[in-house]
Amino acid sequence: MERMASGNLWNSEAYDSKLDFVSKLGGGVVELLAPKAGERILDFGCGTGDLTVALAEAGATVVGVDLSEDMIKRARSKFPQLEFQVANGVNYRSDEPFDAVFSNAALHWMPQAEQTAHSIWLALKPGGRFAAEFGGSGNVDTITTAIEHVLEKYGHDPAGRNPWYFPKLGEYASLLEQTGFRVSFAWHFNRPTPLKGSSGMRDWLDMFSDDFFFDINALEEKEAIYQEIITMVKPDLYRNDEWFADYKRLRILAVKP
Ligand code: BEZ
Repeated sequence: MERMASGNLWNSEAYDSKLDFVSKLGGGVVELLAPKAGERILDFGCGTGDLTVALAEAGATVVGVDLSEDMIKRARSKFPQLEFQVANGVNYRSDEPFDAVFSNAALHWMPQAEQTAHSIWLALKPGGRFAAEFGGSGNVDTITTAIEHVLEKYGHDPAGRNPWYFPKLGEYASLLEQTGFRVSFAWHFNRPTPLKGSSGMRDWLDMFSDDFFFDINALEEKEAIYQEIITMVKPDLYRNDEWFADYKRLRILAVKP
């Protein structure tokens, strides 16, 4: 995974220790892809490589790409036997085409969706599969609403800060069809996602929501904003001593005819 387009700075160590649910919950899309021995597979937005290695364990030859140098550095040190590249998925090009493109929790960081779908198309051989899961319409609405409300309260115009792309199912399936794909499976579903520990919501904000706070340099102000956001989402997203993020996923399988 995953931040392939915006200004977010990834901390790959925190990502693995506090937010490891990202790859742990990505098993469904690996199953949907059904990687086979001997296939050449591109992991598009591979993060620190935990699902890249799952694809390799099926006997595939894998290439993991991610825009974050820090993520790729960590992926290389965890899995030195695998190939990883720092690359932007939006305009990714490969000399050698793939049997399949896999992507978990990455495409919502690439709002240039048409360009990205075209890059995926070009990366595939005829007959190649594209299996992906990412945030769909309504994803993290509770958290985003709170962020924007509290920013406004502190005198910061929230307009233009949201970096994410969360399309409706029909919108994304149509985009793939316009690109030339045949969409064989599409599912938009709720997946409340448990966040680790009592600081789970704060850790999530710290890891993923940088773009909203890019011009807030005073640590005290940022902390006060975080605490107000946490208080605001708590009635909806804290149950039985556990934090949840209100994830809504889009899971897609498409074929390049
Ligand atoms: C997600 O996986 O749905 C997600 C992650 C970070 C920011 C926004 C959404």
